[in-house]
Amino acid sequence: MNKKFRLPGVLIGIAVGAVVANAAPLPYLNDSIDIEVRVEDALARLTLEEKIAMIHAQSKFTSPGVPRLGIPDLAVSDGPQGVREELLWDKWDVAGQTNDSCTAYPALMSVAASWNRDIAALYGKSIGEEFRQRNKDVALTPGINIYRHPLCGRNFEYMGEDPYLAGILAAEAVKGIQSNGVAACVKHFALNNQEIDRHKVNVVVSERALHEIYLEGFRRAIVDGGAWTVMGAYNKYRNQFCTHNEYLNKILKTDWKFDGVLMSDWGGTEDTHQAIFNGLDLEFGTYTDGLSSGKSNAYDNYYLANPYLALIKSGVVGTAELDDKVRRILRLCFRTNMNRNRGFGSRNSAQHSADALAIQQEGIVLLKNEGDILPIDKSRFHRILVVGENADFCLTKYGGSSGVKARYEVMPIDAIRKIAGNDVKIEYRKGYTSDWPRNTQVEDSLRIDALKAADKADLIVFIGGHNKHPCHDCESYDRGSTKAPYRQDELLVELLKAKAPLVLVTMGANQFDMPYSGKITAMLHAWYGGSESGTALAQVLFGEVNPSGKLPVTFYRQLDECGAIAMGEYPGDGKNVSYNEDIFVGYRYVDKYNVKPQFHFGHGLSYTKFRYGQPVADKMKILSGDTIKIVMPVTNIGRRSGKEVVQLYVQDEKASVPRPVKELKGFVKLNLAPGETRNAVFCITARDLSFYDETSRSWKAEPGVFKLLIGASSLDIKRSLSISLM
Ligand code: BGC
Repeated sequence: MNKKFRLPGVLIGIAVGAVVANAAPLPYLNDSIDIEVRVEDALARLTLEEKIAMIHAQSKFTSPGVPRLGIPDLAVSDGPQGVREELLWDKWDVAGQTNDSCTAYPALMSVAASWNRDIAALYGKSIGEEFRQRNKDVALTPGINIYRHPLCGRNFEYMGEDPYLAGILAAEAVKGIQSNGVAACVKHFALNNQEIDRHKVNVVVSERALHEIYLEGFRRAIVDGGAWTVMGAYNKYRNQFCTHNEYLNKILKTDWKFDGVLMSDWGGTEDTHQAIFNGLDLEFGTYTDGLSSGKSNAYDNYYLANPYLALIKSGVVGTAELDDKVRRILRLCFRTNMNRNRGFGSRNSAQHSADALAIQQEGIVLLKNEGDILPIDKSRFHRILVVGENADFCLTKYGGSSGVKARYEVMPIDAIRKIAGNDVKIEYRKGYTSDWPRNTQVEDSLRIDALKAADKADLIVFIGGHNKHPCHDCESYDRGSTKAPYRQDELLVELLKAKAPLVLVTMGANQFDMPYSGKITAMLHAWYGGSESGTALAQVLFGEVNPSGKLPVTFYRQLDECGAIAMGEYPGDGKNVSYNEDIFVGYRYVDKYNVKPQFHFGHGLSYTKFRYGQPVADKMKILSGDTIKIVMPVTNIGRRSGKEVVQLYVQDEKASVPRPVKELKGFVKLNLAPGETRNAVFCITARDLSFYDETSRSWKAEPGVFKLLIGASSLDIKRSLSISLM
């Protein structure tokens, strides 16, 4: 006989014996006692079979709890741009529900381009509320694999090429998500930097590059952000799948003391023995025999299901590893679905639309603005031609697991028309199409139609770039090339012959090659902006919002300017891919080899101008435990309010190992009214001066002189000062 036992907010059917009326709750249900005591208490009550059940999926996106103890199932869901629509229990097909739309948030690249800790925290808090409202306990975001080269099809889901920037912002996002009692899941741990061969490729990389470039962002998100879950990557490292990788697991759980759950990527588990001993706690998405054809109990065939149970029962393996996994899952439950104090969340609220808009407003990057043609002056331009498919194209829906069912998505053309009002005549021509299958006659007529309209315009705004089709920005595929897709280059070259100046707006994880870019008057890059994508873009175009994003990646002129392509291997030989460029990823390669990319890392303009004053440090010499405080005054010398991201890079003047010319170690976003001066304050410690020493397997800072370079981008260094490490 079951009695009903009421926990505030949750009604749990629980077996007699678990709770005695009017008595103190059993230890594991008592949230006023230490969480570790609760974990041990719950663990002691579980049978072997219950423990095994808890460590693998029971559906596409849930793992089972223990009903007799009132431990609920864990519900997880994608993904970075919003809480994913409901899928069928056993299949990837959508469930066809009518109440599962969401606010689409800007892609993580846009969050990274904000270079604003508060914006990353807002993203986390706001998206976490949507997950909570949909009763999801784990949000499969943020993804922070390093942008090693422009071809990775998932670059848009990640946070750029620099581990410091990605790590600091991801940590804020994690804290924001988890403030809702929903776990963040930092993914994909680690070295998942290409989609081609992602299920089999073995990454060959130096230990130094592993730590300095590929793990450092994870370390910050996990250690500083306090992430409760991590997802293993599909690929291999040291010839072992990352989902159950001895080496990576030791770093995660021993060195970083991660006490949460390491879950597999969907279908990332490959071996029971390794999964048991190399730290995999929760198995999802394995392609077991018969699952697709609906064979009953297929989840029991998972690597961490019956095969594991059989090994325990036959005495081949013990239960210490199992208990460790279950402890972590119980801890996760107490932090999430058994946390009675968590809020209820909210979804599709006006506040969330405002949040998505605020994030995107700070993510858009003004790359170029010749003659200050932007913002568009309505008294100067009366006939604007908007050209390009992305002005009126859904960019929230596809792209793989991060695609969402947005409740709405504001199209740029609609937002532009609204802001332009009656003063300006707006014409729209599609100009090119990404339709599949291709029809060159249709493509030609779209182009000719746009060119005709261009003759009558006094300003052309081209809104193009990429979309989330396979081989563009899309999971499971890498981009085919960096050339303009869908014949956009043919159209652009012709449009640039018109008398009207051309403003180019691109979307996607990056631009495409533009040998003709010199002729383009102004350029904005808008990533993927979510539900309020169009609104934010129109506001920036017409000056209602002053752009303040900066590039979290280098925009190359052509692919071979990228270190991974020039020096390293991509995509490898199907078995291995060697990261021969080593630590020289992104701007670290650009600086070393004096490459002149289209736009440098950290670049981004404003409609106002800033003057950098003189930086002052509170000391010029530091000992290893010290912190140096640097105060950098910046003044808005223009006539509009604006935000400036002040960046600090460290340069080691002399070292025993090759070091990058400079590395980002601080950034502050200042909001300045016209004429106003504020200080960017940076704190530098010996850790910021160090490199990963492969011999001692630790971070090492060598005494000597270091330059602190402060500026508006990795190219535009305004001030510098030298400090000495004693
Ligand atoms: C992706 C993950 C995603 C998971 C669940 C995998 O294919 O790599 O990022 O969270 O599917 O949809």
